[in-house]
Amino acid sequence: MQISFVAPADVTAKSGAKDGGTWVVGAVEGVVLLPAAARADKASGGALSRALKASRFTGKAGQMLEVLAPSGVAVSRLLLAGLGKAESVEEKGLETLGAQIAGRLYSAGETVASIEIDVPKHAKVKKAELAAHLAFGAKLKSYAFDKYRTRNLDEYEKKLKTVRIVTPDVAAAKKAHAGLEAVAGGVFFARDLVNEPPNVLYPAEFARRAKAQLSKLGVKVEILGEAEMKKQGFGALLGVGQGSDRESQLVVMQWNGGKKGGKPFALVGKGVCFDSGGLSIKVGAGMQGMKGDMAGAACVVGTLQALATRKAKVNVVGVVGLVENMPDGGAFRPDDVLTSLSGQTIEVLNTDAEGRLVLADALTYTQRRFQPKALIDLATLTGAIVQALGFEHAGIFSNDDELVRRVQSAGRFTGERVWQLPLDPFYDKMIRSKIADMKNIGGANSGSITAAQFLQRFIEKGTVWAHLDIAGVAWQDGEQKPTIPSWGTGWGVRLLNRLMKEHYEA
Ligand code: BES
Ligand code: MN
Ligand code: ZN
Repeated sequence: MQISFVAPADVTAKSGAKDGGTWVVGAVEGVVLLPAAARADKASGGALSRALKASRFTGKAGQMLEVLAPSGVAVSRLLLAGLGKAESVEEKGLETLGAQIAGRLYSAGETVASIEIDVPKHAKVKKAELAAHLAFGAKLKSYAFDKYRTRNLDEYEKKLKTVRIVTPDVAAAKKAHAGLEAVAGGVFFARDLVNEPPNVLYPAEFARRAKAQLSKLGVKVEILGEAEMKKQGFGALLGVGQGSDRESQLVVMQWNGGKKGGKPFALVGKGVCFDSGGLSIKVGAGMQGMKGDMAGAACVVGTLQALATRKAKVNVVGVVGLVENMPDGGAFRPDDVLTSLSGQTIEVLNTDAEGRLVLADALTYTQRRFQPKALIDLATLTGAIVQALGFEHAGIFSNDDELVRRVQSAGRFTGERVWQLPLDPFYDKMIRSKIADMKNIGGANSGSITAAQFLQRFIEKGTVWAHLDIAGVAWQDGEQKPTIPSWGTGWGVRLLNRLMKEHYEA
């Protein structure tokens, strides 16, 4: 999808888009036509007014009214989009609207659109932001993962290729959009990684792609293989990868856009490229989708791409632990005891609780090497978080309420919501082991909390830390939303980008 910003005179003259595409205009609740909509109505001899009378369109957010082949204007259709209440028009809602408009035009088979939506009086956004966030929403909707389809391609093709956002101040809109375009790139990269099947995307391939993509943007990327990790003592991470034919990897990515020598913000991701459960093997249905068990790692990589692309003035280090959790004769067993990089020993009672083992060593490595000013880890860690919060919120656990507040506020802005759950010594007791420093599972209940308690044991004194359990939000199941194929959401890239922008950038 090609998105551009154009001044009103360049496209619509007095009578709509000059090359016959769709002219998208807006109305707020109460059917108040915004200026461009009023112009479109007039130019078409009242086509919109007549259509309004024949419909139940009220201007609520997301409502659409379509007039095909109107006379008097050189366009294929007029599309009137509802913005909701003027005073509640803000960035996230505009992104949703941009996506809804694009979705509508995809179904229509339209190829060209000019979106001319004015800022309503009392709205919370400026003209440039309105244009930029509409564009961002349309762009996010344009994502597709069709590389493995070989038949009926026409059925899947998204024909809308040209989107013009009509705005009075083109330069300001372009400026506001530049950063968001970088974020869309990061979101798409994360989605691609999550969607890629596990026979194609195994740890070394993930590492290769991260390096190829990020190093050309100026991110310093190092890859540690099994020999190096063994030497350094990554006993927990390597234990998980032991039953796989694919080599485990650790990828360390540094974006130094901030003050030279300033302590970095650290992002750590769980990168289980496929989680079969290992010897504690999952049942068939529970194993499906486990190619996405590297979504935390994908989010970290996608965020670094976004930050580097827009040259964010911040120092960020990303560390992802990449493994495949498989059962074979060499696999780690329930009852094994692993010695982690921190020196703490872990009794493995269930090989399917593997993410925390991978993260344990990645967390230790990150803290010891970088002494980050704060650290956030992201992981599709527990099925229990899906039970608790469903698909609407990620779970957040933290030793610092201010960091939680910041993450929540960034997530409210981007629409990636997080809900805080407790840490408490009571839960920590549940992972005491009979023979080692800890075991890798708690009891039957509070599984997301005991997983977080486990991670906290690898947080060193003074580290400001939050753990995001993203198992419910990292991918969407096609069966819940029939119009959307199963895909990685790229959850967290927008949130982390926003968090950096709001609180950590110079
Ligand atoms: N990767 C899974 C968690 C998961 C489940 C992610 C469903 C996305 C959707 C994780 O490694 C896992 O298997 N967790 C176990 C932990 C249990 C054995 C203590 C779980 O949640 O059942
Ligand atoms: Mn597992
Ligand atoms: Zn897992």
